Amino acid sequence: MIIAKTIKEVREYVKKWRGEGQSIGLVPTMGYLHDGHASLVDKARSECGKVVVSDFVNPTQFSPNEDLQSYPRDFEHDCKLLEEHGCDLVFYPSVEEMYEPNAATYVEILDEMPKQLCGKTRPIHFRGVCTVVSKLFNIVQPDKAFFGQKDAQQLAIIRRMVKEMSYGIEIIGCPIVRESDGLAKSSRNTYLNAEERKAALVLSKAVFRGEELVKSGVIDSEKVLSEMRAIITAEPLAKIDYVSAVDGVTMQPVTEITNGVLVAMAVYIGKTRLIDNFIAGGLK
Ligand code: PAF
Repeated sequence: MIIAKTIKEVREYVKKWRGEGQSIGLVPTMGYLHDGHASLVDKARSECGKVVVSDFVNPTQFSPNEDLQSYPRDFEHDCKLLEEHGCDLVFYPSVEEMYEPNAATYVEILDEMPKQLCGKTRPIHFRGVCTVVSKLFNIVQPDKAFFGQKDAQQLAIIRRMVKEMSYGIEIIGCPIVRESDGLAKSSRNTYLNAEERKAALVLSKAVFRGEELVKSGVIDSEKVLSEMRAIITAEPLAKIDYVSAVDGVTMQPVTEITNGVLVAMAVYIGKTRLIDNFIAGGLK
């Protein structure tokens, strides 16, 4: 596996592979990789000739009060996992490599979409995500890029950005990967102590109950959401940021949970903010 730290190197390898007629798959990550990321790499491996993974904790998607400094990092572990899953090149740039000293160019969706759900408490988050993903697309120029459903709002925003900016890249959404007890895999799970780890199960319990209600024919979003909220609020260590039902494409709130509706939540367990969701009728 090639470790590339500069944009120039990535471009050279991609140019060579293109010349050989290979297709390129990109998996953007912030490192501290787990089975959720591995599933994205596996999917890319099965669909593309060459697989590029970026491993970069992107500062522009963190507000000053967030966990940029403490965000977990372990590049050695990441490389091991990536090698095992057949990644061809890991792009591991420094902040200086990715951003010019006074960079002030951003890619941003300017309507309500990035202000919904996670955007309410993380106002600059999706501007940072769109900017870095757009830069990665320009650097790697992949045929396909792979993102997890756990960050469902991010996935919807990137799909829209790609369409509106005419990137010509196919965006592949991949299902949430869970621990055996249901907790969605996340690099941030590492912040949880033993007691919080148990408490964190309320997220997946609420997701499974919500999904079950919808499958049984309950479509009134308030009914579904209030049962889900009740499961979460019964846990003393949990504090709801939001539990909402929105259109899966526009992220606008809906009153009925029909196919394609995203039912998403962000919940603080102690100081750790975790997210989880389901999409009625499954991910398309
Ligand atoms: O989902 C993530 O890990 C990040 O938001 C992404 C897409 C790699 C951009 O930094």
